[in-house]
Amino acid sequence: MSADLEPIYLDYAATTPVDGRVAERMREVQDRFYFNPSSNHFAGRRSAAVVDAAAGQLARLLNADPAEFLWTSGATESNNLAIIGAAKQRQHSGRHLVTLRTEHKAVVDVFRALEKQGFEVSWLEPDPDGRLPPERFQAALREDTQLASIMQTNNETGVVQDIQSLGAISRSRGVVFHVDGAQSVGKMPVDMAALPVDLMSITAHKLYGPKGVGALYVANGTAIEAQMFGGGQQRRLRPGTLPVDLIAGFGEAAAVAATRLEDDLTRLAALKAQLLEGIRDLDGLYVNGPEHDAYPGILNVGIEDVEGESLLLALEPLCVATGSACNSQSQEPSYVLRALGRSDIQAQSAIRFSLGRQTTREEIERAVSLYRGAVAKLRDLAPARTA
Ligand SMILES: Cc1ncc(COP(=O)(O)O)c(C=O)c1O
Repeated sequence: MSADLEPIYLDYAATTPVDGRVAERMREVQDRFYFNPSSNHFAGRRSAAVVDAAAGQLARLLNADPAEFLWTSGATESNNLAIIGAAKQRQHSGRHLVTLRTEHKAVVDVFRALEKQGFEVSWLEPDPDGRLPPERFQAALREDTQLASIMQTNNETGVVQDIQSLGAISRSRGVVFHVDGAQSVGKMPVDMAALPVDLMSITAHKLYGPKGVGALYVANGTAIEAQMFGGGQQRRLRPGTLPVDLIAGFGEAAAVAATRLEDDLTRLAALKAQLLEGIRDLDGLYVNGPEHDAYPGILNVGIEDVEGESLLLALEPLCVATGSACNSQSQEPSYVLRALGRSDIQAQSAIRFSLGRQTTREEIERAVSLYRGAVAKLRDLAPARTA
């Protein structure tokens, strides 16, 4: 990329830049609170107080009890601990589990691993817009179902599931309900006191915090089996020395998010509308996922007769995604879009734009013109096959 090409970053669903206040807080903690929070001396207790303060910030964002969080390395670890931990804890009562086909790999592959260990998994199909109707969920629960895992916001399409209804159904059937909240916490209001959710995975780097730290919300009274063994930290459920600086940054990111959730959502909705309006008249363009009532920071579009990987290259200096970042090494069409009924070819033309706090109207204008230009160029090079 030549020096005059400034990247236009529209890949906030992959990760977000660290907020200035977060970076400042981490620097301060690195300088002043490098002590091990498990040490019994007074300095160690000061580090422990920093960790407690961060738990308080996260708890305020989510209207939860600070004691309900375990610190982890991110949402991948939280998903593993929640799903395997709950499935193993309850396996003597039954081995049936329920999830959705369009979950993130960090959920899908955990269930696949459990299938190999003799658990039975029902893989639910979403509607073509990505939503899971509560009745379909209810019909999948059996006498021996122990755990269900349904994400809140989908990372590829932005579709938001009806966690309130799905959780209520799980509660009424005594099924532990886990939610992957990696793309929702800090981005939309999430109230744990109101939601019937037992376990929720959270990660800091999607909400302008550092990479490598996350949390698992474990509602008081929910039992899970530890998956790692070592020191006695975190009630023996997740041992290991706590990264005090990362945790403090995570807490600060949660505090910043709490002050601007509504403003962020309003701004993003306007930017997403601008983007869609700028390209929707293009021949053969369609939206993957719901057009309305989705998280406004994500817009996934496909276009007939244009291949996604070529489009991605032609869009430079725009940084967008063709599938989820975790799948981008593979040329496989997105399994999420396939589950919405898209063909392989359609799924391969998909581009995910994800917008965030630093996104401007000017950047959206550039993105529109780059997308239009790239589509025109690729269609010129390889004109659509006509019958
Ligand atoms: C929905 C969802 N779940 C889980 C993850 C994994 O999170 P982490 O990178 O913190 O392990 C991601 C991030 O890509 C995600 O979008």
